[in-house]
Amino acid sequence: MNFLIVNGSPKGENSITLQTSLYLAKRYPAHTFVPIHVGKNPRTWEQHPGEIVRRVAAADCVIFSYPVYTFLIPAQLMRFMEAMKATGADFSGKYATQISTSKHFYDMTAHRFVRENAQDMGMRFVDGLSADMEDLLTEQGRKQAEGFFEDLLFNMKYGLCESASPAVPPAHRPVKVPVCGKEKPGRVAIVADLDEDDEQLGRMIARFRAVFPYGTDLVNLREFPFKGGCLGCFRCAADGVCVYKDGFGELLRDRIQTADAIVTAFTVRDHGMGSLMKTYDDRQFMNGHRTVTMGKPLAAIVSGNLPAEENLRCVLEARAQVGGNCWCGAACDEVDPDGEIDRCAMRLARAIHEKRTCPQNFWGVGGMKIFRDLIWQMQGLMRADHRFFKEHGQYDFPQKKRTRMLAMYLVGAMNSSPKIRAKLGSKMTEGMLMPYRKILGETRAK
Ligand SMILES: Cc1cc2nc3c(=O)[nH]c(=O)nc-3n(C[C@H](O)[C@H](O)[C@H](O)COP(=O)(O)O)c2cc1C
Repeated sequence: MNFLIVNGSPKGENSITLQTSLYLAKRYPAHTFVPIHVGKNPRTWEQHPGEIVRRVAAADCVIFSYPVYTFLIPAQLMRFMEAMKATGADFSGKYATQISTSKHFYDMTAHRFVRENAQDMGMRFVDGLSADMEDLLTEQGRKQAEGFFEDLLFNMKYGLCESASPAVPPAHRPVKVPVCGKEKPGRVAIVADLDEDDEQLGRMIARFRAVFPYGTDLVNLREFPFKGGCLGCFRCAADGVCVYKDGFGELLRDRIQTADAIVTAFTVRDHGMGSLMKTYDDRQFMNGHRTVTMGKPLAAIVSGNLPAEENLRCVLEARAQVGGNCWCGAACDEVDPDGEIDRCAMRLARAIHEKRTCPQNFWGVGGMKIFRDLIWQMQGLMRADHRFFKEHGQYDFPQKKRTRMLAMYLVGAMNSSPKIRAKLGSKMTEGMLMPYRKILGETRAK
């Protein structure tokens, strides 16, 4: 079999993820593995669409190989996939799968994104391998990689693949822009990927600005001269300074992070926000894993069928959860755009005014635990992150709670004796309620 390895890592040949395919090539010499380094040089591929079609046609199976970048795939690979779709070529029936490496922080949203896009192109998609970046260094990791590959061969032999959901075209219902409302300049940043031909998104943003009681600052990413996507070089790890000198750090820190709230505005493209918005997301890696906008309310204005894009909704909400932001929802134009925009504006205005914080759910708590353990181990390299985590009490390791642990040993010892357990009866539950009863006892009417 011929496998085309679409290497989406901006590090090209130096990609950690690529090593898994190189390992498989050595273990299974009867098959050929041809890598193309699309993450290192996305522009070249855009300029040669015929070459993309030729390479894919020559393969029995395409393996998308990439590092997970900020909940999804690197912007460079996203750009390649956009170019692949834009060829309009018939890839239907072609087998495809994926290999990623990461720290398992939202690897599942990245995987779903790739699967959905490959299936859009009619490809027969087989579940991929989501490995930790160090897995290949362990016996078990290598075994799992081989297991994945043998499963892939099995699927291809018997014509098996994942079933695809049917595409639902967006409704793009009309949006009214109130004439009385004025767009006031102010301190709420609207970060938009707004193409001048995208009248629908333009109107949605205009309505939001007209009905929103606070002033806004529209940052249109189309006007920003990005020199490129994040290179994954880690040069920003010590001091937060990016190797690119295109002014992105200033834009981010002076106009966006200092805003009272941040609204993201985009049109759904290929089950995501498009590669330009992803470039913006990835380049924020100069903030490392620091939750620098903690407490700020977030919202989104989305043109497209967001209700049908479960994965994208998860990315938007989980990002707010991990960042410790108050999520005020996404207004979209699928059902009742005017109402959604107005309600979103009301919720956001209230969140700014009340300065409320909300507890994180599983997406936020789970994500932060991965970051905590990662930064603790990498503190020598990720110095700015380490300082931030120490200053903000984000090293909340359970082993620090010694008194609580000792108390649990005591309760556990009592609970393991059938005699004491019988005597205790419902006292354990009552004991657990004691601190709550104390609070309720002290509570007075507001
Ligand atoms: C910009 C950037 C964003 C990242 N985002 C994530 C992420 O969301 N989840 C995760 O688990 N790892 C994330 N990582 C870590 C990479 O996925 C990981 O280091 C990967 O193994 C690198 O593979 P490569 O050498 O093939 O590029 C990120 C790294 C960078 C540089």
